[in-house]
Amino acid sequence: MDYKTLMEKAIEASKNAYNRYSNFAVGACVLTENDKIYKGCNFENASFGLSICAERNAVGSAIADGERKIKAIAIYSPNTDNCYPCGACRQVLHEFKSDNGIDVILKQGEELNIRTIDELLPEGFNL
Ligand code: THU
Repeated sequence: MDYKTLMEKAIEASKNAYNRYSNFAVGACVLTENDKIYKGCNFENASFGLSICAERNAVGSAIADGERKIKAIAIYSPNTDNCYPCGACRQVLHEFKSDNGIDVILKQGEELNIRTIDELLPEGFNL
């Protein structure tokens, strides 16, 4: 799947954000090594700290379906350009890198800003 289509899926997912406390919507779409895609949106909670980011929601769906290697993730927010993943999500993505790493696709106006997880999280934690 091309990155433009992956971003369109992330945009679709952002429309389902459950964001009643922050009003900040995020959608993400993961592409795995088996060319499967998984969407996620953020979902918040009255106990604010329990809120889950769109990226981790998408990664969780991929994992639950048996996928283990992620090639790319598109992330979108209607609230801001270049919706970079938070630090926690960077570490979660680091765990499931494909052998070629993970391309992180952001939307910058009408353009795609393509970064890599190794660039966004150098020296991630491993056990
Ligand atoms: N959020 C994400 O979904 N992904 C990020 O990488 C940063 C933050 C969500 C969490 C919360 O629901 C809202 O954005 C505001 O922090």
